[in-house]
Amino acid sequence: MEDLKIPRHIAIIMDGNGRWARQRGMPRIMGHYKGSEVAEEIVKFCANLGVEYLTLFAFSTENWRRPREEVELLFDLLKNYLTQKKEELIREGVRLRFIGRRDRIGKDLKNLMEKLEEETSKDYRITVILAIDYGGRDDIIRAVRKAVHQRMESIDEDTFSRLLDLGEIPDPDLMIRTAGERRISNFLLWNLAYTELYFTEVCWPDFTTEELMRALEDFSKRKRKFGRVLDE
Ligand code: IPE
Ligand code: IPE
Ligand code: MG
Repeated sequence: MEDLKIPRHIAIIMDGNGRWARQRGMPRIMGHYKGSEVAEEIVKFCANLGVEYLTLFAFSTENWRRPREEVELLFDLLKNYLTQKKEELIREGVRLRFIGRRDRIGKDLKNLMEKLEEETSKDYRITVILAIDYGGRDDIIRAVRKAVHQRMESIDEDTFSRLLDLGEIPDPDLMIRTAGERRISNFLLWNLAYTELYFTEVCWPDFTTEELMRALEDFSKRKRKFGRVLDE
């Protein structure tokens, strides 16, 4: 493949963990567990490719509607994962950031997130943004509240987008969703305005670096026009 374009920012809706597990007669949480291992591999691969930002959708504002047991197990998995992987993340040059609400998650997780953001902020190669209790509409509403609170006088697209959770981080260039669903499910509504979308049937626990390369090859062929007419 000639001329592989590496997106500066990739966003992923990691979907299909439950289906992957059920197809194997396993409890859904096993799919989430395998999914966390896949996420780790994709993070390292993206860092090596020179991707600057990788945003991963881990839990949506709507995912609270799931059975309580699954929600609890998911948050346990997340906490254990982040605690165990801290040193490795630092060694790999991963800076962690979190987006989403922080008022409904447990205090332990909230403290852990703040600590990790602080401790991974030096000497990094890639910024990994984990979206936890994140919803695109909620993000916009919180930004509006901030604007009102600050009595902001001139609101334009630039000043407003800085109030959103991604702040100064550039919009994703490529958004990947696994497991065949072709929807945004309230992910980064504002920031995906001109993002290239890529959908694959593969469930997240089966997603590989080869699959990611396929997405990047597809992305490299896209003509991004941003409303303009390209030279004919
Ligand atoms: C994605 O996998 C992970 C989360 C939403 C937390 P799902 O759990 O949505 O898997 P399916 O879509 O039910 O297969
Ligand atoms: C989107 O997946 C949220 C995450 C991957 C965290 P869902 O599985 O929750 O989305 P829907 O319900 O199929 O739209
Ligand atoms: Mg799903």
